[in-house]
Order: sequence, then structure tokens, then C-alpha cells
Amino acid sequence: MILVQISDPHIRQPGKLAYGQVDTAAALQRTVAAIQRLPQPANAVVITGDLVDFGRPEEYAHLRRLLAPLSVPVYLLAGNHDEPMALRAAFADHAYLPPTGPLHYAVDLGPLRLIALDSHQPGCSHGALDAAQLTWLEQTLADAPEVPTVIALHHPPFETLIGHMDRIGLREGAAALEALVRRHPQVERVICGHLHRAIERRFGGTLAATCPGTSHQVCLDLAPQAASCFALEPPAFRVHAWTAHSGLVTHLMPVGEFAGPFPFHDAHGLID
Ligand SMILES: [Fe+2]
Ligand SMILES: [Fe+2]
Repeated sequence: MILVQISDPHIRQPGKLAYGQVDTAAALQRTVAAIQRLPQPANAVVITGDLVDFGRPEEYAHLRRLLAPLSVPVYLLAGNHDEPMALRAAFADHAYLPPTGPLHYAVDLGPLRLIALDSHQPGCSHGALDAAQLTWLEQTLADAPEVPTVIALHHPPFETLIGHMDRIGLREGAAALEALVRRHPQVERVICGHLHRAIERRFGGTLAATCPGTSHQVCLDLAPQAASCFALEPPAFRVHAWTAHSGLVTHLMPVGEFAGPFPFHDAHGLID
């Protein structure tokens, strides 16, 4: 079972560059092509938010066209750049999306369960999980205590030490989420976006991790007052692979054109 996670595509309407710099649509096309080239095909894809840049209907329509080559189920989360009503309207055939209320849901992916939370706050860059959503999560986890589960949300529930991003992080609900996860040991992973980098931290007895963006990355600078900026570092995505004997194993796969593969051995042994 392969669950591919991509994050933060920030799609704009055709012909517009994000921040006047980044062709996010071309970047997503390269990521989709890389997913299709995986030696073990993905069973499902989850996109951990900031699907589009301004929450506009024409951006969601463009996203739909860019995702069309994927022939497996795609699960969408809202990030701070998203507009939940426009997202729902554009993906009305995505039956797992609730028609009203928070965009949270639980889906079965064969041996794994995916639970998506909605940390989006209208008009804000930061995120929050309120008491009602945490209650829903507690009940949803209690429904299937034996099924290995991945929890996804856009804003990571931990401090990343990238100051300008932590200031627009998950302002409400992180400690309660951690305590809740600790009570449900079937939670294999908490997966997030928003940071446009790969970051991991121990969390509630499991591992919480962010995923790089499909186009631009947030600069790595841990000085508390570091400038808010991005760079065109290589994009990447996560490959969450499940087997009954290994549990959930997470890989990071860069997107780009790379030389190889080359064999480590020739017919007679190690190459000198
Ligand atoms: Fe983002
Ligand atoms: Fe974000």
C-alpha cells in the first residue's frame, strides 16, 4: 500500500506566476509525472493544503486539469490559501468532502485509514483546531482502534524554528491534539504541509512530519527574526509505504531530472 503525499501546489489561473516568479502549474505537472514513474504505483494521493494560491474558482478548475492524469483517488485538504466553498464546488464529485462544516473526513485506504483535519481559519494565515473538531477526531479514532491511521492537516502542530512560519502556525489545539494522539496508539503518523520543507518531530508518541512543496520551498533559516522568503530548491514528495510486517515507512522523493539509475555491480562483482 503506497500513499503518496504532495503539498502546497499553490496553483494560479493559467498564465499567472505565483509571487511573480514561480510557474506552480508546470511544477505540479512535473510532480504528477514523477508520481506516475514510481516503480510501485501509488494507491492514493493526499495533498496537504494550499492547493491554490488565492482560493479562486478558476484556480481550482486549473488544479483539476493538472491532477487529471492521476488515475488513483486523490484526497484534498484545505490550507490557509484555500477557500473551502470554492474547493467544494470545483471538486463536487469528491464524495468524501463533507458538504458543509469543517472539511474533515476519514477514508479507508485498504489496510490504512486516512483522517484529514481542517486547520483552515477564514481570512487568516495561521491555523487552529477547535474543541468540536478535536471531539470529532477522538470519536473517529475510537471507531477503529485497530486500524493503522495517518492523520493529515495543513498546519503542523509543532514549532519548526522557522520563526515567520511559526508565527502563522497552528495557534490553537496543538497540545490537545498531541494528548489525543497519545491516547490512540494506532496513529502511525501525523502528516502536514504549510512549511514547504521536510521537517520531523516526535509528537504524541508517534512522528509528525511536514512535506516539501511541489514548487517553491521556504528558506532554511532558524534565526527567530529571519526574513520570510522562498527559494527554488528541488521540490519533493513523500512516499508513505505500508506493509503489515514493516508498519508505515516514509520516504522522501525529490522531483527533477537526475542521471541514472546506474548498477552498483557489473556481471563480475563490484565495479572498480
Ligand atoms: Fe503553502
Ligand atoms: Fe500554508
